[in-house]
Amino acid sequence: MLFRHQTVGVAVDAPAKLNLFLKVVGRRSDGYHDLETLMVSVGLYDTVRAFDAPGEQLSLVCFDAARTLREPRRELPPADAGNLVLKAATLLAQHAGIRRGARLELTKRIPMAAGLAGGSSDAAATLVALNRLWGLRLPLVEMQRLGAALGSDVPFFLCNSAAAVCRGRGEIVEPLAVGRRLHFVVARPPTGLSTALVFQNCQPSRQSISVELLAREIGRGRLERMARSFHNTLQEPAERLNPEVTRLRRWFSRQPFAGHLMSGSGSSYFGLCRSRTQALQLASRLRAARLGDVFVAGCRP
Ligand code: C5P
Repeated sequence: MLFRHQTVGVAVDAPAKLNLFLKVVGRRSDGYHDLETLMVSVGLYDTVRAFDAPGEQLSLVCFDAARTLREPRRELPPADAGNLVLKAATLLAQHAGIRRGARLELTKRIPMAAGLAGGSSDAAATLVALNRLWGLRLPLVEMQRLGAALGSDVPFFLCNSAAAVCRGRGEIVEPLAVGRRLHFVVARPPTGLSTALVFQNCQPSRQSISVELLAREIGRGRLERMARSFHNTLQEPAERLNPEVTRLRRWFSRQPFAGHLMSGSGSSYFGLCRSRTQALQLASRLRAARLGDVFVAGCRP
């Protein structure tokens, strides 16, 4: 989460995340699944801007940043992109017991239905932006508790660390040190996947793998060993639901990535590279293969 200097209002950049490990441990009685996951935030950002507004009204406009180079900023319907932003704003105002309005602007760059948690990151950024704009001074742990009610990935984005191991339904967050800069190529195929549908179609893992090995290797920054510990229980059901994920897996497995995996509940797929130069080369090769939108994004230590 990055604050941007603004003369008016508050701007917060909301990063995407990648799951380098996601083990579905079991089903819960509340309809969710217990997870053991390792997430890193990467430098692909949406932006949430918050401005003072008269009265108590909360308003939101959403823009599709991908279009801005070719045509004037296109407005997206808030129901598509910004639902969680308005929910986060409403929840924060209620929690703080205040009667203040805000004008919110969301600029989308992170693809949706992609397993990159763009919506959750936007919600976390909204809490951070309004906490500042309204002068509430809520600590991050309090915002994490609020965020958990908005989505399982929201607390991760409020942990003040580029990487974390998350447990429970995702809300138990243990920050993690990253030993070196990590470079990824990320592809979002033409169609997305519904998180709920992928979870409905998954079986809890019976493998005796644990996130600990990967967590240790990330701290030491050893790429090949890290990549050997990549795991995602949701990849198999996601590939059954969306053959575009399989197409990406096949393409990535023929390239010299240190490792590759589907992120979260998909449909995005990523490869871990040995350098930024290699990431840029493989990204242009992937663009030529026309399997989807392609991004190069890093994770800072
Ligand atoms: O928490 P979030 O709103 O992101 O979750 C979306 C859906 O994904 C949930 O409604 C649930 O069906 C599924 N889910 C799950 N177990 C988790 C996280 C999400 O079953 N730990």
